[in-house]
Amino acid sequence: MAVIAGNWKMHMAPEEARAFFCAFQVDPVMADHEIVIFPPSVSLFTACECEYRDPRVQLGIQNLHWEDRGAFTGEISASMAVRAGANYALLGHSERRHVFGETDEQVALKVASALRHDLIPVVCVGETLEEREAGRVDEVILRQLDSALVSIPDPETRFLIAYEPVWAIGTGKTATPLDAAAAHGTLRGRLERAMGAATAARTEILYGGSVQPSNAAILLAACDVDGVLVGGASINPESFTEIARASG
Ligand code: 13P
Repeated sequence: MAVIAGNWKMHMAPEEARAFFCAFQVDPVMADHEIVIFPPSVSLFTACECEYRDPRVQLGIQNLHWEDRGAFTGEISASMAVRAGANYALLGHSERRHVFGETDEQVALKVASALRHDLIPVVCVGETLEEREAGRVDEVILRQLDSALVSIPDPETRFLIAYEPVWAIGTGKTATPLDAAAAHGTLRGRLERAMGAATAARTEILYGGSVQPSNAAILLAACDVDGVLVGGASINPESFTEIARASG
């Protein structure tokens, strides 16, 4: 069983979300996977209420603010996301970090807020090309992981990690299965030291970055890869179906 997640980013208005769920059906081949879609927040409630959506397809919010309410124009709180149908929260996505300047500390506040409202955090980590070329992959992803773990003191808490190398996102360049396995192994090793062997074994680590129908199976087969977080290929029901049918 793997986690197959789709991050729609700033795509898929409400009526497009409905059309997606009409076309995307869970079949027996993918029924063992945990399937999660992260629509843009304006489409979350529509996706939640959509009569075509198989209830086995779960929903998440792409970002949230750490306060529960207040004068934060344009922001959405964890409790609002829950009431609009989210079970998961994607936090610290590289576009949030690099385009919107989100810091490790803010990601940690968001993780704490998600957990207070029973959202399952999916904590994104990943290095830039410059950081990879400077041999700093482990340093960067462990720093990002460690700062999020400050908000997860209980080893029984369910959370997921998504390793998304920034240079592989939307570029058509995918990490090799060996690159992915190496980073995932590093992350799992840190989880084991920080939270114990049981938590490390149980916590799913997803790979994201140019996942396509053509490479999903080989990535899912890589050591320590427990699922995929798909961007561009998740907004098309046919390609997302093919990815969800792949297994490692
Ligand atoms: P792409 O699959 O479009 O590279 O996006 C990956 C991603 O950022 C998922 O969160």
